[in-house]
Amino acid sequence: MQTDSLFRSFSLKSLNMKNRIVMAPMTRSFSPEGVPTDAVADYYASRAQGEVGLILSEGTVIDRVSSSNDPNIPHFYGEQALAGWQQVIDKVHTAGGKMGPQIWHMGVMDNHRSGWLPSQPFEGPSGMGKPGVVNGQPMTESDIADTIAAYGRAAADAKRLGFDTVELHGAHGYLIDQFFWHETNRRSDIFGGKTLVERSRFAIEVIKEVRRQVGEDFAMILRLSQFKPSAYDNKLAATPEEMEAWLNPLADAGVDIFHCSQRRFWEPEFEGSDLNFAGWAKKLTGKATITVGSVGLTGEFLAAFAGESSQPSSLDELVRRMDRGDFDLVAVGRPLLSDPAWTKKIREQRTDELKGFSVEALGQLVLE
Ligand SMILES: Cc1cc2nc3c(=O)[nH]c(=O)nc-3n(C[C@H](O)[C@H](O)[C@H](O)COP(=O)(O)O)c2cc1C
Repeated sequence: MQTDSLFRSFSLKSLNMKNRIVMAPMTRSFSPEGVPTDAVADYYASRAQGEVGLILSEGTVIDRVSSSNDPNIPHFYGEQALAGWQQVIDKVHTAGGKMGPQIWHMGVMDNHRSGWLPSQPFEGPSGMGKPGVVNGQPMTESDIADTIAAYGRAAADAKRLGFDTVELHGAHGYLIDQFFWHETNRRSDIFGGKTLVERSRFAIEVIKEVRRQVGEDFAMILRLSQFKPSAYDNKLAATPEEMEAWLNPLADAGVDIFHCSQRRFWEPEFEGSDLNFAGWAKKLTGKATITVGSVGLTGEFLAAFAGESSQPSSLDELVRRMDRGDFDLVAVGRPLLSDPAWTKKIREQRTDELKGFSVEALGQLVLE
Protein backbone atom coordinates (compact mmCIF):
# COMPACT_ATOMS: atom_id res chain seq x y z
CA MET A 1 0.00 0.00 0.00
CA GLN A 2 1.24 3.47 -0.91
CA THR A 3 0.36 5.57 2.14
CA ASP A 4 2.86 8.47 1.99
CA SER A 5 0.12 11.06 1.55
CA LEU A 6 -1.27 10.11 4.98
CA PHE A 7 2.06 11.04 6.51
CA ARG A 8 2.34 14.66 5.44
CA SER A 9 2.07 17.29 8.19
CA PHE A 10 -1.00 19.49 8.59
CA SER A 11 -1.29 22.91 10.25
CA LEU A 12 -4.33 25.07 10.85
CA LYS A 13 -4.26 27.79 13.51
CA SER A 14 -3.47 26.16 16.89
CA LEU A 15 -3.42 22.66 15.39
CA ASN A 16 -0.10 21.27 14.13
CA MET A 17 -0.14 17.61 13.20
CA LYS A 18 2.71 15.38 12.07
CA ASN A 19 0.39 13.28 9.90
CA ARG A 20 -3.19 13.15 8.64
CA ILE A 21 -4.51 10.44 10.97
CA VAL A 22 -7.13 11.43 13.55
CA MET A 23 -8.37 9.14 16.30
CA ALA A 24 -12.17 9.27 15.99
CA PRO A 25 -14.09 10.22 19.15
CA MET A 26 -15.23 7.04 20.89
CA THR A 27 -17.29 6.82 24.06
CA ARG A 28 -15.68 4.43 26.53
CA SER A 29 -17.64 4.94 29.79
CA PHE A 30 -14.57 4.43 31.96
CA SER A 31 -14.83 7.71 33.89
CA PRO A 32 -16.76 7.06 37.15
CA GLU A 33 -18.91 10.02 38.17
CA GLY A 34 -17.65 11.83 35.09
CA VAL A 35 -13.99 11.97 36.12
CA PRO A 36 -11.33 10.64 33.67
CA THR A 37 -8.99 8.30 35.56
CA ASP A 38 -5.26 7.53 35.24
CA ALA A 39 -6.21 4.56 33.05
CA VAL A 40 -8.08 6.88 30.67
CA ALA A 41 -5.01 9.15 30.44
CA ASP A 42 -2.77 6.15 29.74
CA TYR A 43 -5.19 4.89 27.09
CA TYR A 44 -5.00 8.18 25.15
CA ALA A 45 -1.24 8.57 25.71
CA SER A 46 -0.64 5.12 24.22
CA ARG A 47 -2.41 6.20 21.01
CA ALA A 48 -0.16 9.30 20.93
CA GLN A 49 2.81 7.00 21.44
CA GLY A 50 1.51 4.98 18.50
CA GLU A 51 1.86 8.13 16.31
CA VAL A 52 -1.77 9.20 15.81
CA GLY A 53 -1.60 12.78 14.45
CA LEU A 54 -4.61 14.09 16.40
CA ILE A 55 -6.64 12.40 19.10
CA LEU A 56 -10.26 13.44 19.48
CA SER A 57 -11.54 12.44 22.89
CA GLU A 58 -14.66 10.44 23.50
CA GLY A 59 -17.69 12.70 23.82
CA THR A 60 -17.39 14.67 27.09
CA VAL A 61 -20.44 16.46 28.37
CA ILE A 62 -21.12 20.12 29.17
CA ASP A 63 -22.38 21.63 32.40
CA ARG A 64 -26.11 20.92 32.13
CA VAL A 65 -27.81 18.64 34.64
CA SER A 66 -29.22 16.33 31.98
CA SER A 67 -26.48 16.49 29.33
CA SER A 68 -25.64 12.78 29.81
CA ASN A 69 -27.47 9.48 30.24
CA ASP A 70 -24.47 7.59 31.66
CA PRO A 71 -22.61 8.28 34.94
CA ASN A 72 -19.37 6.85 33.53
CA ILE A 73 -19.16 9.27 30.62
CA PRO A 74 -16.65 12.05 31.34
CA HIS A 75 -17.71 15.58 32.22
CA PHE A 76 -15.97 18.59 30.78
CA TYR A 77 -16.79 20.77 33.76
CA GLY A 78 -16.12 20.77 37.49
CA GLU A 79 -12.77 20.81 39.26
CA GLN A 80 -12.24 17.04 39.50
CA ALA A 81 -13.15 16.17 35.93
CA LEU A 82 -11.07 19.04 34.53
CA ALA A 83 -8.11 17.92 36.68
CA GLY A 84 -8.54 14.50 35.09
CA TRP A 85 -8.52 16.06 31.63
CA GLN A 86 -5.44 18.09 32.56
CA GLN A 87 -3.67 14.83 33.23
CA VAL A 88 -4.88 13.41 29.92
CA ILE A 89 -3.59 16.29 27.79
CA ASP A 90 -0.30 16.47 29.69
CA LYS A 91 0.36 12.76 29.13
CA VAL A 92 -0.65 12.99 25.48
CA HIS A 93 1.68 15.94 24.91
CA THR A 94 4.53 14.16 26.70
CA ALA A 95 4.00 11.22 24.33
CA GLY A 96 4.27 13.59 21.36
CA GLY A 97 0.57 13.73 20.50
CA LYS A 98 -2.05 16.43 19.87
CA MET A 99 -5.58 16.32 21.20
CA GLY A 100 -8.97 18.00 21.31
CA PRO A 101 -11.96 17.10 23.48
CA GLN A 102 -15.26 16.32 21.79
CA ILE A 103 -17.73 18.60 23.54
CA TRP A 104 -21.12 16.95 23.89
CA HIS A 105 -24.68 17.35 25.09
CA MET A 106 -26.72 14.27 24.32
CA GLY A 107 -30.10 15.99 24.23
CA VAL A 108 -33.12 13.73 24.67
CA MET A 109 -31.94 10.15 25.14
CA ASP A 110 -33.21 6.68 25.81
CA ASN A 111 -32.83 5.75 29.47
CA HIS A 112 -29.50 4.06 30.17
CA ARG A 113 -29.64 0.27 30.40
CA SER A 114 -28.31 0.47 33.99
CA GLY A 115 -31.41 2.41 35.02
CA TRP A 116 -29.33 5.50 35.97
CA LEU A 117 -31.03 8.77 35.15
CA PRO A 118 -29.94 12.40 35.54
CA SER A 119 -31.72 14.28 38.32
CA GLN A 120 -33.67 16.38 35.81
CA PRO A 121 -35.51 15.22 32.69
CA PHE A 122 -33.63 15.00 29.40
CA GLU A 123 -33.92 18.18 27.35
CA GLY A 124 -33.99 18.91 23.64
CA PRO A 125 -35.67 21.10 21.05
CA SER A 126 -39.04 19.37 21.36
CA GLY A 127 -38.59 16.65 24.00
CA MET A 128 -37.93 13.96 21.37
CA GLY A 129 -34.69 12.10 20.73
CA LYS A 130 -36.15 10.19 17.83
CA PRO A 131 -39.28 10.68 15.79
CA GLY A 132 -42.46 10.43 17.83
CA VAL A 133 -40.76 9.22 21.04
CA VAL A 134 -41.07 11.81 23.80
CA ASN A 135 -38.60 11.13 26.63
CA GLY A 136 -37.71 14.63 27.77
CA GLN A 137 -38.70 18.26 27.87
CA PRO A 138 -38.65 20.98 25.24
CA MET A 139 -35.98 23.53 26.15
CA THR A 140 -37.09 27.02 27.16
CA GLU A 141 -35.32 30.08 25.82
CA SER A 142 -33.43 30.37 29.07
CA ASP A 143 -32.41 26.66 28.92
CA ILE A 144 -31.06 27.35 25.44
CA ALA A 145 -29.16 30.45 26.53
CA ASP A 146 -27.62 28.60 29.47
CA THR A 147 -26.68 25.63 27.26
CA ILE A 148 -24.97 27.88 24.71
CA ALA A 149 -23.00 29.49 27.54
CA ALA A 150 -22.04 26.01 28.86
CA TYR A 151 -20.63 25.00 25.44
CA GLY A 152 -18.62 28.21 25.50
CA ARG A 153 -17.22 27.56 28.98
CA ALA A 154 -16.20 24.02 27.98
CA ALA A 155 -14.35 25.31 24.92
CA ALA A 156 -12.62 28.00 26.98
CA ASP A 157 -11.56 25.30 29.46
CA ALA A 158 -10.21 23.14 26.61
CA LYS A 159 -7.98 26.01 25.54
CA ARG A 160 -6.97 26.86 29.11
CA LEU A 161 -5.95 23.25 29.87
CA GLY A 162 -3.69 23.27 26.81
CA PHE A 163 -5.65 21.19 24.28
CA ASP A 164 -4.72 21.82 20.65
CA THR A 165 -8.23 22.10 19.27
CA VAL A 166 -11.86 21.53 20.24
CA GLU A 167 -14.56 19.52 18.48
CA LEU A 168 -18.29 20.20 18.84
CA HIS A 169 -20.44 17.07 18.52
CA GLY A 170 -23.15 18.07 16.07
CA ALA A 171 -23.75 14.57 14.68
CA HIS A 172 -25.49 11.23 15.30
CA GLY A 173 -28.83 12.48 16.60
CA TYR A 174 -27.60 14.24 19.77
CA LEU A 175 -28.60 17.71 20.95
CA ILE A 176 -27.24 19.91 18.14
CA ASP A 177 -28.41 17.37 15.57
CA GLN A 178 -31.83 17.18 17.24
CA PHE A 179 -32.16 20.87 16.39
CA PHE A 180 -31.08 20.26 12.76
CA TRP A 181 -33.58 17.47 12.09
CA HIS A 182 -37.21 18.37 11.33
CA GLU A 183 -38.38 15.13 12.95
CA THR A 184 -36.99 16.12 16.37
CA ASN A 185 -37.25 19.90 16.07
CA ARG A 186 -40.90 20.92 15.99
CA ARG A 187 -40.36 24.37 17.48
CA SER A 188 -42.19 27.41 16.22
CA ASP A 189 -39.76 29.99 17.67
CA ILE A 190 -36.49 31.23 16.14
CA PHE A 191 -34.78 27.89 16.90
CA GLY A 192 -37.25 25.97 14.72
CA GLY A 193 -38.49 26.40 11.17
CA LYS A 194 -39.31 24.65 7.92
CA THR A 195 -35.81 24.76 6.47
CA LEU A 196 -32.55 23.22 7.63
CA VAL A 197 -31.03 26.70 7.49
CA GLU A 198 -33.59 27.95 10.04
CA ARG A 199 -33.06 24.92 12.27
CA SER A 200 -29.32 25.61 12.22
CA ARG A 201 -29.83 28.66 14.43
CA PHE A 202 -28.93 26.78 17.64
CA ALA A 203 -25.71 25.37 16.14
CA ILE A 204 -24.75 28.80 14.84
CA GLU A 205 -25.26 30.41 18.24
CA VAL A 206 -23.15 27.67 19.88
CA ILE A 207 -20.37 28.07 17.31
CA LYS A 208 -20.33 31.86 17.70
CA GLU A 209 -20.13 31.59 21.48
CA VAL A 210 -17.33 29.03 21.26
CA ARG A 211 -15.45 31.26 18.83
CA ARG A 212 -15.95 34.24 21.16
CA GLN A 213 -14.50 32.22 24.04
CA VAL A 214 -11.46 30.70 22.30
CA GLY A 215 -10.50 33.60 20.00
CA GLU A 216 -9.69 33.55 16.29
CA ASP A 217 -6.52 31.46 16.47
CA PHE A 218 -7.85 28.30 18.09
CA ALA A 219 -8.91 25.59 15.63
CA MET A 220 -12.58 24.59 15.92
CA ILE A 221 -13.94 21.35 14.49
CA LEU A 222 -17.64 20.59 13.99
CA ARG A 223 -18.75 16.97 13.61
CA LEU A 224 -21.84 16.42 11.49
CA SER A 225 -23.69 13.43 10.07
CA GLN A 226 -26.49 13.16 7.59
CA PHE A 227 -27.54 9.82 9.09
CA LYS A 228 -29.19 9.30 12.47
CA PRO A 229 -28.87 6.06 14.45
CA SER A 230 -32.66 5.87 14.19
CA ALA A 231 -32.56 6.58 10.42
CA TYR A 232 -29.47 5.33 8.62
CA ASP A 233 -30.54 6.57 5.22
CA ASN A 234 -31.56 10.02 6.36
CA LYS A 235 -30.20 13.04 4.50
CA LEU A 236 -30.50 16.35 6.32
CA ALA A 237 -29.36 17.94 3.06
CA ALA A 238 -30.87 16.12 0.09
CA THR A 239 -28.93 18.00 -2.62
CA PRO A 240 -25.59 19.81 -2.96
CA GLU A 241 -27.53 23.10 -2.96
CA GLU A 242 -29.13 22.27 0.38
CA MET A 243 -25.78 21.21 1.76
CA GLU A 244 -24.19 24.48 0.67
CA ALA A 245 -27.01 26.46 2.31
CA TRP A 246 -26.52 24.43 5.51
CA LEU A 247 -22.74 24.43 5.82
CA ASN A 248 -21.71 27.91 4.76
CA PRO A 249 -23.47 29.72 7.63
CA LEU A 250 -21.80 27.25 10.03
CA ALA A 251 -18.43 28.06 8.45
CA ASP A 252 -19.16 31.79 8.62
CA ALA A 253 -20.02 31.43 12.33
CA GLY A 254 -16.53 30.10 13.03
CA VAL A 255 -16.00 26.44 12.08
CA ASP A 256 -12.50 25.71 10.75
CA ILE A 257 -12.81 21.99 10.02
CA PHE A 258 -15.89 19.92 9.17
CA HIS A 259 -15.74 16.35 10.47
CA CYS A 260 -18.09 14.52 8.15
CA SER A 261 -19.31 11.32 9.73
CA GLN A 262 -20.24 8.42 7.48
CA ARG A 263 -20.45 4.73 8.22
CA ARG A 264 -18.47 3.91 5.05
CA PHE A 265 -16.21 6.64 3.66
CA TRP A 266 -16.44 5.38 0.06
CA GLU A 267 -20.20 5.91 -0.23
CA PRO A 268 -21.13 8.83 -2.53
CA GLU A 269 -23.19 11.57 -0.90
CA PHE A 270 -25.30 12.47 -3.92
CA GLU A 271 -26.08 10.81 -7.25
CA GLY A 272 -23.93 11.74 -10.22
CA SER A 273 -20.59 12.04 -8.41
CA ASP A 274 -18.44 9.72 -6.32
CA LEU A 275 -17.60 12.52 -3.82
CA ASN A 276 -18.35 11.55 -0.24
CA PHE A 277 -19.66 13.85 2.51
CA ALA A 278 -16.21 15.23 3.37
CA GLY A 279 -15.54 15.73 -0.35
CA TRP A 280 -18.70 17.77 -0.82
CA ALA A 281 -18.19 19.75 2.39
CA LYS A 282 -14.72 20.79 1.27
CA LYS A 283 -15.86 21.62 -2.26
CA LEU A 284 -18.84 23.68 -1.07
CA THR A 285 -17.21 25.59 1.82
CA GLY A 286 -13.50 25.62 0.99
CA LYS A 287 -12.88 24.56 4.59
CA ALA A 288 -10.67 21.68 5.69
CA THR A 289 -12.53 18.38 6.19
CA ILE A 290 -12.09 15.06 7.96
CA THR A 291 -13.47 11.86 6.48
CA VAL A 292 -14.30 8.79 8.55
CA GLY A 293 -16.06 5.46 8.33
CA SER A 294 -14.63 1.93 8.05
CA VAL A 295 -11.15 3.13 7.08
CA GLY A 296 -8.94 0.05 6.96
CA LEU A 297 -11.74 -2.30 8.01
CA THR A 298 -14.16 -4.67 6.30
CA GLY A 299 -17.28 -3.92 8.40
CA GLU A 300 -18.95 -0.73 9.69
CA PHE A 301 -19.23 0.57 13.25
CA LEU A 302 -22.91 0.20 14.13
CA ALA A 303 -22.60 -3.52 13.42
CA ALA A 304 -19.76 -3.50 15.97
CA PHE A 305 -22.27 -2.65 18.70
CA ALA A 306 -24.19 -5.78 17.68
CA GLY A 307 -21.05 -7.82 18.22
CA GLU A 308 -19.50 -7.89 14.75
CA SER A 309 -15.71 -8.02 14.41
CA SER A 310 -13.88 -6.65 11.36
CA GLN A 311 -10.75 -7.57 9.42
CA PRO A 312 -8.08 -5.19 8.10
CA SER A 313 -8.68 -3.94 4.56
CA SER A 314 -6.77 -1.94 1.93
CA LEU A 315 -6.27 1.83 2.19
CA ASP A 316 -5.89 2.29 -1.60
CA GLU A 317 -9.32 3.84 -2.20
CA LEU A 318 -8.85 6.18 0.75
CA VAL A 319 -5.48 7.34 -0.55
CA ARG A 320 -6.88 7.78 -4.08
CA ARG A 321 -9.51 10.18 -2.75
CA MET A 322 -7.06 11.98 -0.52
CA ASP A 323 -4.59 12.47 -3.37
CA ARG A 324 -7.44 13.90 -5.44
CA GLY A 325 -7.87 16.55 -2.72
CA ASP A 326 -11.29 15.40 -1.47
CA PHE A 327 -10.40 15.87 2.23
CA ASP A 328 -7.50 16.86 4.47
CA LEU A 329 -7.66 14.42 7.37
CA VAL A 330 -8.80 10.86 7.99
CA ALA A 331 -10.39 9.70 11.24
CA VAL A 332 -9.97 6.11 12.34
CA GLY A 333 -12.11 4.61 15.08
CA ARG A 334 -12.26 0.88 15.84
CA PRO A 335 -8.77 -0.06 14.61
CA LEU A 336 -7.41 2.25 17.33
CA LEU A 337 -9.58 0.66 20.01
CA SER A 338 -7.92 -2.68 19.39
CA ASP A 339 -4.43 -1.45 18.53
CA PRO A 340 -2.70 1.71 19.85
CA ALA A 341 0.12 1.18 17.33
CA TRP A 342 -2.13 1.11 14.22
CA THR A 343 -0.75 4.39 12.79
CA LYS A 344 2.87 3.42 13.29
CA LYS A 345 2.26 0.03 11.68
CA ILE A 346 0.71 1.69 8.64
CA ARG A 347 3.63 4.11 8.33
CA GLU A 348 6.12 1.27 8.58
CA GLN A 349 4.10 -0.89 6.14
CA ARG A 350 3.74 -3.64 8.76
CA THR A 351 0.36 -4.68 7.34
CA ASP A 352 0.69 -8.31 8.41
CA GLU A 353 0.71 -7.08 12.04
CA LEU A 354 -2.60 -5.17 11.80
CA LYS A 355 -5.22 -6.51 14.20
CA GLY A 356 -8.52 -5.33 12.72
CA PHE A 357 -11.26 -4.89 15.31
CA SER A 358 -12.64 -7.39 17.75
CA VAL A 359 -15.57 -6.73 20.05
CA GLU A 360 -13.55 -7.58 23.18
CA ALA A 361 -11.86 -4.19 22.68
CA LEU A 362 -15.14 -2.46 23.59
CA GLY A 363 -15.07 -3.77 27.14
CA GLN A 364 -11.58 -2.60 28.08
CA LEU A 365 -9.00 0.14 27.56
CA VAL A 366 -6.52 -1.79 25.42
CA LEU A 367 -2.96 -0.58 26.06
CA GLU A 368 -0.97 -2.73 23.67
C1 LIG B 1 -17.26 2.30 20.81
C2 LIG B 1 -17.60 3.49 19.96
C3 LIG B 1 -17.95 4.68 20.58
C4 LIG B 1 -18.24 5.82 19.81
N1 LIG B 1 -18.51 7.01 20.43
C5 LIG B 1 -18.61 8.14 19.71
C6 LIG B 1 -18.67 9.42 20.34
O1 LIG B 1 -18.58 9.57 21.58
N2 LIG B 1 -18.78 10.52 19.54
C7 LIG B 1 -18.86 10.41 18.18
O2 LIG B 1 -18.97 11.43 17.51
N3 LIG B 1 -18.78 9.22 17.57
C8 LIG B 1 -18.63 8.10 18.29
N4 LIG B 1 -18.45 6.88 17.64
C9 LIG B 1 -18.33 6.85 16.17
C10 LIG B 1 -16.86 6.93 15.77
O3 LIG B 1 -16.31 8.21 16.07
C11 LIG B 1 -16.66 6.69 14.27
O4 LIG B 1 -17.31 7.68 13.54
C12 LIG B 1 -17.17 5.32 13.85
O5 LIG B 1 -16.70 4.31 14.72
C13 LIG B 1 -16.73 4.99 12.42
O6 LIG B 1 -15.33 4.89 12.36
P1 LIG B 1 -14.64 3.42 12.25
O7 LIG B 1 -15.38 2.73 11.14
O8 LIG B 1 -13.21 3.73 11.91
O9 LIG B 1 -14.82 2.74 13.55
C14 LIG B 1 -18.20 5.74 18.38
C15 LIG B 1 -17.86 4.52 17.78
C16 LIG B 1 -17.55 3.41 18.55
C17 LIG B 1 -17.13 2.14 17.85
